[in-house]
Amino acid sequence: MSLFNVYPLFDITPVKAKDVYVYDENGTQYLDLYGGHAVISIGHSHPTYVGKLQQQLANIGFYSNSIQNPLQQQLADKLTTISGCNLYELFLCNSGAEANENAIKLASFHTQKHKVVAFKNAFHGRTSAAVAATDNPKIVAPINAQQAVEFVEFGDIEALTKILAKGDVCAIITEIIQGVGGLDEASTAFYKTVEQLCKQFGTLLIADEVQSGFGRTGDFFAFQKHGIEPDIISMAKGMGNGFPVGGILIHPKIKASFGLLGTTFGGNHLACTAALAVIETIQQEKLLDNVDEISTYFIHKVSQISEIKKVKGRGLMLGLEFDFPIAELRKELIYNHHIFTGSSKNSNLLRILPSLTVKKEHVDVFINALTKALELQKV
Ligand SMILES: Cc1ncc(COP(=O)(O)O)c(C=O)c1O
Repeated sequence: MSLFNVYPLFDITPVKAKDVYVYDENGTQYLDLYGGHAVISIGHSHPTYVGKLQQQLANIGFYSNSIQNPLQQQLADKLTTISGCNLYELFLCNSGAEANENAIKLASFHTQKHKVVAFKNAFHGRTSAAVAATDNPKIVAPINAQQAVEFVEFGDIEALTKILAKGDVCAIITEIIQGVGGLDEASTAFYKTVEQLCKQFGTLLIADEVQSGFGRTGDFFAFQKHGIEPDIISMAKGMGNGFPVGGILIHPKIKASFGLLGTTFGGNHLACTAALAVIETIQQEKLLDNVDEISTYFIHKVSQISEIKKVKGRGLMLGLEFDFPIAELRKELIYNHHIFTGSSKNSNLLRILPSLTVKKEHVDVFINALTKALELQKV
């Protein structure tokens, strides 16, 4: 049986990984500044993470959500401490799309409305409502397109107000920093107005922190810089450092009832253990401080490279914008300098999404390689 061929693949086979490095079957070492698409938060195969997961697996790996699982409450408590989001309740699932799907569904249950507003260039995942709220017609099947979604220019308050005033919008869903779309972030004034409009028109505000959350920007959640209080916060990627786990934080004005949401795998013992190990490591190794320090260093270094026209994003969710498509540059970095980087919908943008444990010496290796790769492009 062949694989359903949906992924264009680099010809590299990682068999081992440690912190910011990945190794192929020949033992070649790659510097991972992509973090498996913003997933690796505390470094590949972190000893705390490996130890806790091994121990948990030896005890109990899984049982359904029909029994007591104290790890879920432990995770909720730890999340409260690390994020400072004291008000919220936690629902656990398995992926980013699933987190957003549940967030949108919950907003619709709560408001009894059906329309969603999303922003141009947004990416929220590939399940039904999440993909309908994703600005990419190529991945929206006719069955998804039945959902009522309106796309507004990121930052356009006037257009937003007009749509909300009709009274049928259950949720505005927004990434605080657009990931796949290309690292755009709106102003604090914009987010605050969105929050106020939601209150005015009985709409819920969903912050999609699937990529930007769990410390990637140096704040635990990216929205925290803007001083807003979303009604639902979705998270995934960095949460499990590679173990599939996602979740939503839910404002207590949204009431739970038995059966309202549910999942077989969500919140299982291994998933909770992975997320607990991530939080513990972020705290113990003061990784949020490291994000700030390395981000400042990185931005300073790349600002000296004249080919880079703009540095976008925050923390360790960064984009380097050139005035040419970066596809070849990315290939040069991976095949000749053994450095993984990311791309985005903006073909001129090279994305940098390393583990939050990355150090200055790794940045130096990248800067050196990038400078050489750019020299080659000139020839
Ligand atoms: C902001 C954002 N939301 C949702 C998703 C979907 O997450 P998943 O692929 O885990 O379903 C992604 C994935 O890239 C994302 O970047």
